[in-house]
Amino acid sequence: MRTCYCGEVTAQRVGEVVELEGWVHRRRDHGGVIFLDLRDRAGIVQVVYDPDTPESFALADSVRNEYVLRLRGRVRRRPPGTVNAEMKTGEIEVLGDALWVLNRSATPPIQLDEYADVGEDARLRHRFLDLRRPQMQERLHLRARAASLTRRFLEGEGFWEVETPTLTKSTPEGARDYLVPSRTQPGQFYALPQSPQIFKQLLMMSSVDRYYQLARCYRDEDLRADRQPEFTQIDIESSFVEETDVMAIAEGLIKTLFRELKGVELPDFPVLSHADALARYGSDAPDLRNPLRLVDVDDLLRDTAFKVFSRAANDSGSRVAALCAPGAAAALSRRQLDDYVGFVGRYGAKGLAYIKVNDANAGTAGLQSPVLKFLEADAAAAVLERVGARTGDIVFFGADTAKVVNDALGALRDELGRALGLIEERWAPLWVTAFPMFEAGRQTLAPAHHPFVRPACSEEELRENPRTALAHAYDFVLNGVEVGGGSLRIHDPAMQRAVFHVLGIGQEAEVKFGFLLDALGLGCPPHGGIAIGFDRLVMFLAETDNIRDVIAFPKTQSASCPLTRAPGRVDAEQLRDLHIRLRGTG
Ligand code: AMO
Ligand code: AMP
Repeated sequence: MRTCYCGEVTAQRVGEVVELEGWVHRRRDHGGVIFLDLRDRAGIVQVVYDPDTPESFALADSVRNEYVLRLRGRVRRRPPGTVNAEMKTGEIEVLGDALWVLNRSATPPIQLDEYADVGEDARLRHRFLDLRRPQMQERLHLRARAASLTRRFLEGEGFWEVETPTLTKSTPEGARDYLVPSRTQPGQFYALPQSPQIFKQLLMMSSVDRYYQLARCYRDEDLRADRQPEFTQIDIESSFVEETDVMAIAEGLIKTLFRELKGVELPDFPVLSHADALARYGSDAPDLRNPLRLVDVDDLLRDTAFKVFSRAANDSGSRVAALCAPGAAAALSRRQLDDYVGFVGRYGAKGLAYIKVNDANAGTAGLQSPVLKFLEADAAAAVLERVGARTGDIVFFGADTAKVVNDALGALRDELGRALGLIEERWAPLWVTAFPMFEAGRQTLAPAHHPFVRPACSEEELRENPRTALAHAYDFVLNGVEVGGGSLRIHDPAMQRAVFHVLGIGQEAEVKFGFLLDALGLGCPPHGGIAIGFDRLVMFLAETDNIRDVIAFPKTQSASCPLTRAPGRVDAEQLRDLHIRLRGTG
């Protein structure tokens, strides 16, 4: 049995004989002495063999990278000048006197030392090797500790962990379902859950009162750097609660994780309404580390002869917003400014007007802009005063539907914040509340979250003005990323029917969600909850911007696994059992 892990052989053990087990990280032959870096999940330790122990010296000479060894030796201080302050074990080395090769290794297809720059595809193909790297071991361990702390915290708050099915029916969270064909019921399919939403609500109806689960969720959607087709939520639900109760539990949990795992004391999370978030930042998940702000200037531009501005300023669904970028005149090249016009175009903006303030005290003569020939001097002056523009600033404008302006200037705000180096070094948590109930398409309405969110108005008001109805819903945002979301739920069957009706799925819902409507009518307590994206949270704890870094066996952008080669074909017999015939897939 080992005495301790390799990474735990510190100066406190000087003089002790230790037995270690692990992998050969590196072997170096220093003319007459052999150095082995032995690695396990706790770290790396340097072991020295010299010719005084000829048998183990010869064995040490024969080992190669990734051989699995057991060895014994005495811990001693490293000679002065060879101490490595970067390593936990950097003050000592082990003078080996015995060595057993437990297993050999072929030459690894990817290099595991920190100097090797290996592409992600190769890393994923050989993930079991990639995971041996100290950085990946740390990330796995961090995730395990985060899960353990989460359980401890929530159990301390009286939550019960309850597992919910993964072979189930569709849970509407806005993505496509992954389906599993039934063998026993031809033509029928299970859906993998997009979240445990319906089950956690049913558990409240079962008087569980406080439920949590580290729940695996499945969503077939376009993948991005912070999305995976299967991912984990810290899923929480409580009965007899208000919004602030749920937010307090989630905030307490997140603060605890940051304190325990990073030694970071997060500030109390500020709260911002959805409407204010869009007005000030053009985004419902703003990065508050970025000091730039959108400022409404509609009222100043209603009478301008510049039609682009006056049209939007006088239309109720549109807005004219200004974004003042301090010091941008010197920092941004003409070329960058031109690129920004193309950049906002991707969000539907038809142009990007701007005013460069060369001299704030020189009136119109101090300004430079493609729109000054259309814009009256007093209008320009009023706008510049409103945004507090100073010499050297550039003020950008968006004039369009509120959605286009928010999307375009919201994205430009992020871009400018980075380009001008304005992003503050701090953690910026945020609650966004008072979301609208629905996302309005031209004709139809879709749920902004899911159809079980409780409206913040009466049933009558909801039916009359669904487009302006607000929800008892809240999102947790960290540094501009949506990390969690939740709401109070509907507990009145009539209100639930009203929402289905507004969504235009009244009939369909009676069939699909009949069991839920029945349950709501059989003594359902008021309840609400939240789900925190566990992978996204661990990304922040690990300070990486790639979700795959914190998942042991993740999938690629095309939702495949290069290691197991999933998804894969199945044989004809299996398909026959499942009553499936393929068409046109070759
Ligand atoms: P929502 O759909 O907002 O809410 O999801 C909650 C959180 O889950 C994370 N998340 C993802 N993480 C990685 N990859 C994905 N594809 C992915 N999709 C979502 C995000 C998100 O904030 N049932 C509701 C919660 C509730 O109302 O209680 C729900 O699932 O961090
Ligand atoms: P135009 O009248 O299209 O030649 O545009 C004059 C200036 O206004 C150009 O600098 C455009 O980039 C800018 N512009 C045009 N449309 C918009 C818009 N919807 N929002 C902001 N700026 C615009």
